[in-house]
Amino acid sequence: MILVTGGAGFIGANFVLDWLAQSDEPVVNLDKLTYAGNLENLGPLQDDPRHVFVRGDIADRALVARLLERYRPRAVVHFAAESHVDRSIQGAADFVQTNIVGTYALLEAVRAHWAALEPAERSAFRFLHVSTDEVYGSLEPGEPAFTETRRYEPNSPYSASKAASDHLVRAWHHTYGLPVLTTNCSNNYGPYQFPEKLIPLMIVHALADQPLPVYGDGLQVRDWLYVGDHCAAIRRVLEAGVPGEVYNIGGRQEKTNIEIVRTLCALLDEWRPRADGRSYATQITHVRDRPGHDRRYAIDARKIERELGWTPAETFDTGIRKTVRWYLDHPDWVARVQSGAYRQWVQTQYAALR
Ligand code: NAD
Ligand code: DAU
Repeated sequence: MILVTGGAGFIGANFVLDWLAQSDEPVVNLDKLTYAGNLENLGPLQDDPRHVFVRGDIADRALVARLLERYRPRAVVHFAAESHVDRSIQGAADFVQTNIVGTYALLEAVRAHWAALEPAERSAFRFLHVSTDEVYGSLEPGEPAFTETRRYEPNSPYSASKAASDHLVRAWHHTYGLPVLTTNCSNNYGPYQFPEKLIPLMIVHALADQPLPVYGDGLQVRDWLYVGDHCAAIRRVLEAGVPGEVYNIGGRQEKTNIEIVRTLCALLDEWRPRADGRSYATQITHVRDRPGHDRRYAIDARKIERELGWTPAETFDTGIRKTVRWYLDHPDWVARVQSGAYRQWVQTQYAALR
């Protein structure tokens, strides 16, 4: 049994689905179901006894303690977080609460549980913390990609809250000996990603004949990794990672935002042409830049490749085709996640950027 937090979100749901497709080891899935959590992502597991869903907050230490006591997982894989940079700029309170206070509460509940285990169980136990490349700050053009020893320079409220959680996780290992593993991954894309993030937002806006809002000059660079490859990397780190170590995960697929948007437009032009025959690229609109916008991220993934033998299976070209196809094939999922609350977010965020 493993305990997953945030398993109704984008990466967490992909992880749980992939996990149970490859193993019969059950999963307890603790998720608060914020706006970003969606049980529909776990639809294929509805009647599957290997998946136990619990709605709850990682900051609820008593609840986490009860779950640990009852299910006795051999590992915790911690995805739960507030994850959207633009939301953190509008207001950081939820980010501080979940990403910092929540991770602290989770660590404390896990530490108490782990300390009481039998020696053999205690040495096999793992706490895997899923973090981001954004904690390293921003790269200049031509600067080498982020390694695990890169200095932390978080620039947004989101990345600062993730950096704080990484430091807590590190300290719980150093001070208490908790067997932690930390992964810092680059930008993910793929099925079930909430359409507030660049790739699904552009697909959804394109199909709805809405403007495609590119921040600033659109020349910011991100290093894109297909979500299934991230999940495989996490499984590998859980299996063979050395406690206390940090592993960077990335796909060596650096792209500018404008390249991404043009690629999406070209795929949609081919697969779902606009009624008037014009390209979706005519919908591209440059809007005001994100405050404090990091210019470039890139991951040096040589450590995980060398030490754990992980490499991504998808290139950007293969992964983006799967992703666009998935959104075209799941209009009902898209319609349902676009709740009233989500529509209000889009209105507030993009009206201010015009
Ligand atoms: P997401 O926003 O899609 O999902 C987050 C999930 O956490 C949701 O299901 C939400 O309901 C749940 N959650 C939020 N607060 C909670 C709380 N207090 N208690 C319990 N559950 C709570 O996020 P994602 O994109 O799937 O990211 C997952 C993790 O991976 C995050 O820690 C994020 O920082 C990290 N990460 C994301 C990316 C990316 O590109 N999306 C890249 C690297 C790292
Ligand atoms: O690098 C990993 C991080 O990637 C994760 O830790 C975060 O959880 C995840 O949200 C993501 O952060 P980004 O800020 O890089 O992702 P986002 O999809 O919000 O934006 C990607 C780029 O596209 C960024 O440079 C901002 C730009 N952008 C985004 C949106 C939503 C636009 O130009 N227009 C938009 O409407």
